[in-house]
Amino acid sequence: MDTDTEQPLNKRGPPPAHKRPTATQTFKRLGIPLIATGLSIAAIIVIAFLIKLALERYYFFCSKTFKFIPLQQQCNGQIDCSWGEDEDSCVQKVADGPPVEARISKDRSTLQVLDKETGTWFWACHDNFDMALAKAACKQMGYTSIPTFSAVHIANMQGLPFREVTLNNRVLRGQDSGRQCLSGAVVSLTCSTCGESARAPRVLGGGQARISTWPWQVSLQHKSQHHCGGSIIDPSWILTAAHCFQQNLATQNWRVKAGTEILSNVNTLAVEKIFIIDVNYMFPKDNDIALVKLSSPLNISGTVKPICLPFFDEELPPETPLWVTGWGYTKQDGTLSKSLQQAEIKLIDSSTCNAMEAYQGEISDKILCAGLMEGGVDTCQGDSGGPLMYNPGHWQVVGLVSWGHGCGRPSTPGIYTKVQAYLNWIYTVQRSEL
Ligand code: ARG
Repeated sequence: MDTDTEQPLNKRGPPPAHKRPTATQTFKRLGIPLIATGLSIAAIIVIAFLIKLALERYYFFCSKTFKFIPLQQQCNGQIDCSWGEDEDSCVQKVADGPPVEARISKDRSTLQVLDKETGTWFWACHDNFDMALAKAACKQMGYTSIPTFSAVHIANMQGLPFREVTLNNRVLRGQDSGRQCLSGAVVSLTCSTCGESARAPRVLGGGQARISTWPWQVSLQHKSQHHCGGSIIDPSWILTAAHCFQQNLATQNWRVKAGTEILSNVNTLAVEKIFIIDVNYMFPKDNDIALVKLSSPLNISGTVKPICLPFFDEELPPETPLWVTGWGYTKQDGTLSKSLQQAEIKLIDSSTCNAMEAYQGEISDKILCAGLMEGGVDTCQGDSGGPLMYNPGHWQVVGLVSWGHGCGRPSTPGIYTKVQAYLNWIYTVQRSEL
């Protein structure tokens, strides 16, 4: 029944000149059209959002020419947008550069400098060494933090003449081993504090890990999904494996999660650039190494700290105890682990690993084999790029989780990129971004 028109007869008279509309009339006149417009706008927004999602899934938007190109054409090495935006933020290949002119020995962290003319290395004498030279040496290796240095006496330094070498165009006295410095001392140099963990791992075998034990461990996430592990080696740099980026070359889809043992995709950090080594990267053999540069440097804290790179002359004997960490599968064909796991394994010498019943000669001198020959403890899918660690006083990342036949099987242990073989490349890349 419509109550508006049903009025008692005796109340009927001439209609008032300005009859105020009732609530229902107002609703009909204004409310319904308003609601309809609102609903249509909402529908349009939802449809636009769905279209955007679909477009983003299959197309790349050339922002300067307002053109869509198929997503596969982004980062394919060919310019498809007129302004080349499709190739702008992609994984970059960087060739190994000429030898970096400084290196640090495992022998008390002593500095060695390259004489470019003769290609020989010399110890750097402490005689006229100063902060400017320390900074120059560290800059050679891509470090920007304030270095510390001290004098170290080397035994048996008898009388031969000095050689003068230059470092960043400054003359510096150096000596090769056995030749003497005036002061009788060489330089011990530390370019950055690294490899310090709040607690020592004590559990044997595999188990839950705390991030404060491994504060350099990060999760590399592609479109909010954990994809690989990585290690902080500097507030702006993450070291990881190249194969992590194999089908995912667009930098903006990657983010880094640091400072937590729990896998989550909140508060992740943006990635500015990704570098891999410029050789025919043949998955999954050699050269499985990548560097990720963060858009802004990390704040170092108890749960976020860098790990050290290995010394150029560190030699690990077979059976050296090493540690691995990651959120990877806890069994072959398993699922990712929600919380960080750690395990102690051992270095396996290349000849054992190259045996007929193992990897049959696939192991080059640029990769390390580690695990247990009897199987059982190993890294697995999702651990890739994460660190293989050695601790002779501070933690070093000696290897990067790379590949393996299955996980934890006997005779086919895990294969790791030997970081030491790529020090020059790491320094080259970091230096190129100074
Ligand atoms: N490629 C794997 C990844 O992407 C790592 C495999 C390591 N395998 C092994 N058996 N250790 O996560």
